[in-house]
Amino acid sequence: MQAKDSSAPAMAHALPSYLNPDHLGPWGIYLQQVDRVTPYLGSLARWVETLKRPKRILVVDVPIEMDDGRIAHFEGYRVQHNLSRGPGKGGVRFHQDVTLSEVMALSAWMSVKNAAVNVPYGGAKGGIRVDPRTLSKGELERLTRRYTSEIGLLIGPSKDIPAPDVNTNGQIMAWMMDTYSMNTGATATGVVTGKPIDLGGSLGRVEATGRGVFTVGVEAAKLTGLSVQGARVAVQGFGNVGGTAGKLFAEAGAKVVAVQDHTGTIHNANGLDVPALLEHVTNTGGVGGFAGAQAMDAKDFWGVECDILIPAALEGQITKDNAGQIKAKMVIEGANGPTTPEADDILTDKGVLVLPDVIANAGGVTVSYFEWVQDFSSFFWTEDEINARLVRIMQEAFAAVWAVAQEHKVTLRTATFIVACKRMLHAREMRGLYP
Ligand SMILES: NC(=O)c1ccc[n+]([C@@H]2O[C@H](COP(=O)([O-])OP(=O)(O)OC[C@H]3O[C@@H](n4cnc5c(N)ncnc54)[C@H](O)[C@@H]3O)[C@@H](O)[C@H]2O)c1
Repeated sequence: MQAKDSSAPAMAHALPSYLNPDHLGPWGIYLQQVDRVTPYLGSLARWVETLKRPKRILVVDVPIEMDDGRIAHFEGYRVQHNLSRGPGKGGVRFHQDVTLSEVMALSAWMSVKNAAVNVPYGGAKGGIRVDPRTLSKGELERLTRRYTSEIGLLIGPSKDIPAPDVNTNGQIMAWMMDTYSMNTGATATGVVTGKPIDLGGSLGRVEATGRGVFTVGVEAAKLTGLSVQGARVAVQGFGNVGGTAGKLFAEAGAKVVAVQDHTGTIHNANGLDVPALLEHVTNTGGVGGFAGAQAMDAKDFWGVECDILIPAALEGQITKDNAGQIKAKMVIEGANGPTTPEADDILTDKGVLVLPDVIANAGGVTVSYFEWVQDFSSFFWTEDEINARLVRIMQEAFAAVWAVAQEHKVTLRTATFIVACKRMLHAREMRGLYP
């Protein structure tokens, strides 16, 4: 049979009616990123509209009885952006500012991340508009269980597998797993990842994202002739991701010269004692007041003399107002979305190499994938096996992205999108449209 002209461009489609073109929010940023890669998709560009609308959006009402007898209602979401390459995968965020646009964008970035490291998942994300700090433990458990029941239509070990994100943790995953298991009548450990070790969690998951950040940093350093031994590193956010990445860089001979978190900004040009700093954070809740360093003004953090800068706290931290001050040769995005699009362009013009979140922080979902595989087989791997497999996947994924960036002379962010979008759209094309 003669194939139809596969190079025909995608038809232009209006925005879905549920979106307001004047207030697209984070989804608008994602749409711009897709437009930027479309010229590189070749004949697959015909399918690109697939990436510009989520496959499925579920908005749920989550009513719970509060401890004082009131009935409170919360808005919850689960968005499955793309399932061409496998079941949905992505975290659940509990935050008072969660919006549908944000969950849609985060679900799409999960599709890109999962395809970039080539784990067999689509992208999904969930959230509830709630400030969990205002809830008692009992209220939080009832909220989590009711939300899990409401999105039970969509999730399942081979359909869509949630995980922790902002303000959710192993305890919340345990409640989600239990609720799903009660509703289906069988213990289903593989319905969520990021679980406690005793409930089918994986060794190595806690450090996985920071280890991935370190791994891609080392690979990029080799390719650009930067010596990790003696390199000066500055880290924003010294929690799970930033703390682990800082520890691994220090163990490799780098000097962590500045750290900023919500309790303060500290500096030591000779290098901080990272194990002592981690202990201080465990004991006091933050880096502020650490004895082996000088305190510095928060706004001076971005201009600190360093070779590698790791934003590992919040989104939107590197902006057009501070990007010009950055002296680092390399920025490794541990956080999701830490660099605004304008700042990204400023860094590129200055010749700063940015290792984008969609590849740099993919270590977490990679070990979540290992957790899911181990749950299916009920056979658990050693931490050394997990770390070795993680490092191999991150190295291979980074090498593929690097090659595409060189070939097309584009940034690593655009290159990651090219690799990932081609994988998703190729899967779509091979599967064809049903019916
Ligand atoms: N944990 C993971 O597996 C994972 C995976 C992918 C992406 N991420 C992203 O990495 C980032 C950090 O996640 P985490 O798990 O390390 O969280 P965490 O809660 O363990 O640590 C967050 C850190 O950010 C700091 N911080 C908070 N507000 C700040 C502010 N205003 N200024 C400076 N620092 C501030 C906190 O003090 C803390 O050190 C988030 O963007 C998250 O979405 C995490």
